[in-house]
Amino acid sequence: MTDTHLVVIGMGYVGIPCAALFADVPGFRVTGVQRRSPRSGWKIDCLNSGHSPFAGDEPGLAELIQRVALEKRTFHVTDDIAVCRDADAILIDVQTPVDANHVPQYESLREAAAGAGQHMKQGVLVVIESTVAPGTTQHVVQPILEQESGMKAGSPHPPSPSPHTGRGGGNFYLAFSYERVMPGKLLEYLTHFPRVVGGIDAESTRRAVALYRHIMQKEITPTDCLTAEVAKTVENAYRDVNIAFANEMALICESLGVDVFEVRSLVNARPDRHMHIPGAGVGGHCLPKDPWLLNHGVNAYGHSKVRSDLLALARDINDSMPLHMAKLVQEALAEAGQPLAGAKVAVLGIAYLENADDTRNTPALPLIRALRDQGAIVVAHDPYVRQADFDALGLGTSKNIACNHEELEARINIKETLCPPSLGGKKPRRHGEHGEELEFSAFSAPSALNVVYTQDLRAALQGADCAVIVTKHRDYLGSELLQAAQAMRTRIVVDGRGCIEEQVCAEARLTYWGLGRRTGSR
Ligand SMILES: NC(=O)c1ccc[n+]([C@@H]2O[C@H](COP(=O)([O-])OP(=O)(O)OC[C@H]3O[C@@H](n4cnc5c(N)ncnc54)[C@H](O)[C@@H]3O)[C@@H](O)[C@H]2O)c1
Repeated sequence: MTDTHLVVIGMGYVGIPCAALFADVPGFRVTGVQRRSPRSGWKIDCLNSGHSPFAGDEPGLAELIQRVALEKRTFHVTDDIAVCRDADAILIDVQTPVDANHVPQYESLREAAAGAGQHMKQGVLVVIESTVAPGTTQHVVQPILEQESGMKAGSPHPPSPSPHTGRGGGNFYLAFSYERVMPGKLLEYLTHFPRVVGGIDAESTRRAVALYRHIMQKEITPTDCLTAEVAKTVENAYRDVNIAFANEMALICESLGVDVFEVRSLVNARPDRHMHIPGAGVGGHCLPKDPWLLNHGVNAYGHSKVRSDLLALARDINDSMPLHMAKLVQEALAEAGQPLAGAKVAVLGIAYLENADDTRNTPALPLIRALRDQGAIVVAHDPYVRQADFDALGLGTSKNIACNHEELEARINIKETLCPPSLGGKKPRRHGEHGEELEFSAFSAPSALNVVYTQDLRAALQGADCAVIVTKHRDYLGSELLQAAQAMRTRIVVDGRGCIEEQVCAEARLTYWGLGRRTGSR
């Protein structure tokens, strides 16, 4: 059996399941490369000890990682990019965010490509799996790989070593092949969704298709590199636009006093209509930026500029949903005779996706900011999100106080909740309701919003005036929530995901408000 060494750069939601799947294939040895960044460096030891770093549901992944890392010993993770030197194939799976002006931030991609290029051997296959703006593989990654390696991409070229490095003179193969995974379904979607592979030439495509055959249980469709890049970004732009449509319909239904979920099922009764589900906002690493990557690609590499107004409008609509949720909270409280300022609001769901731990671009963040701006006291709850990831949102909190209701109450009853800029970064002294001094590590940060985070649903709801559901975690679907809500001070639930029926809430003596639903006195 031949020994194939695969290097996967970037141990994240995409790179980890992919690396683990290949490591389970007989004859494969896989090395994951993960930089020791403050946020993600810990995943190296975690994976090497045979554990999955994901806290949410990931069927089959923990067992797979344990098998390949500890039993078969075919999977190892390092921060040393030099392992690319004897790689037969290299996959690049690093993040590709956009900045505030929607321009791609390719530092990670460039670093990964440069590192691979400095070490890779003649004949290696490099595949970009990160989502990129159309044109990036050939206009950004290929020149870096060629410059660093001294080799040419594509079918063999006559050998002539680089005058700069003295190395190279050979060739390597280059392709783009995107992932269709999402947290919670990583292995299933990776192996059971058809895959698209687009090489920069026929031989690159052929080699990449042959590689993926080892893990795919569905068809692999070969195409060219640019078409594959466009297809990936179009696929996600399509979803973003469709969610925006559903969200706009939710606002219309809410205003007219009809239930958008009922309307949706009536519309979708026609087999050729597929209205999406409206919700409290769109998050994750992909949907909020992939339409912008598409936009960037056409403007950077297209023959003519294209005004993609629809994509931008969809982004605007989806970005506005958390603010609409804040408005619903305010209206629901007002109807109960309570101002938002000073009310205790429990925000349920910090991960952007149900039963997952991923907080990137979570709609909970703008919602919490809007609530805090209007003086609400906010406690955040999520059963899956790690404290470090919550802290990284910059909401300024203290340690996770899992089951200690008293401590949580004391922290929430702090008189002054914002760190005033007038303190000039000096750590303020804070006191709980009994006058005791409280230690809040994040108070030194001027942006701290003093939002308490807990993984205990009862603690989050105790004494709350409103619970607002941002994420459809299973914990919010049934009796657990209804029971915990009995300890609320004002029993209002604002449902941003269609999690609960109004009737069920009424039976539990809770006032129900829902996005896109006929609620309140309106
Ligand atoms: N998350 C998804 O569901 C999903 C689905 C399809 C496609 N994608 C795309 O796949 C890519 C990766 O997404 P992700 O969610 O896995 O990201 P992620 O942030 O979970 O993982 C990326 C990892 O790469 C590491 N990294 C960055 N630069 C590195 C370098 N130079 N060397 C070594 N490690 C480096 C980071 O520290 C991080 O651990 C993105 O382009 C994304 O758009 C993601």
